Amino acid sequence: MKIIGICGSPRKGNTEWMLRTLMEEAAKYGAEVELLLLRKMDVRTCRGCLTCEEGGKERKGICKIKDDMTETYPKLLSADAILLATPGYFEMLSGLLKNFLDRTCPIWPRLEGKKVVGLAVAEEGIGQAIQNLKTYASLCKMRWVGSATALAKTPGEVAQNKELGRRLKQLAKRLVHSHFD
Ligand SMILES: Cc1cc2nc3c(=O)[nH]c(=O)nc-3n(C[C@H](O)[C@H](O)[C@H](O)COP(=O)(O)O)c2cc1C
Repeated sequence: MKIIGICGSPRKGNTEWMLRTLMEEAAKYGAEVELLLLRKMDVRTCRGCLTCEEGGKERKGICKIKDDMTETYPKLLSADAILLATPGYFEMLSGLLKNFLDRTCPIWPRLEGKKVVGLAVAEEGIGQAIQNLKTYASLCKMRWVGSATALAKTPGEVAQNKELGRRLKQLAKRLVHSHFD
């Protein structure tokens, strides 16, 4: 099973810790994992040209913008599961992650059936952040496995949360072993 984790925080903080923990646990069940740190990638904003729609539902994954998404499209298409992790920003997903999701325009109909997990962390309230990820997953007809959330402010704070650690372990097991058919 191939898992790709997308980290939507601009810093090495709580979101990244949650995602890394989930991926390490999934790897223990034999999954092949790859982490993409959006903060280190060159992912420009979608221009809305819709050139990627040529070819209808069979989108070929071709975007006019040549940046780090060019090599990311095949990775997303070959993954069995995609993990979407975000800090809560104004009770929504981060701009960094939203920008990335917008750039999946050339391939999104081909994500159908893939498993998806949502992770979110915020200081006081998650708000709509998980719901934002669910909406994306639902539009893509992906299979929602579950989510984990935590409250934390400064980097590293989530690592103290034992209940969260248990939740991530449980989620990793479900991610690798769940069958939908
Ligand atoms: C621009 C911005 C907006 C934020 N908005 C919220 C918010 O609406 N509610 C909240 O509880 N925390 C909010 N926070 C706090 C972060 O969600 C919190 O610090 C979180 O731990 C960040 O995750 P990270 O360590 O992975 O970057 C905001 C932080 C920033 C920088």
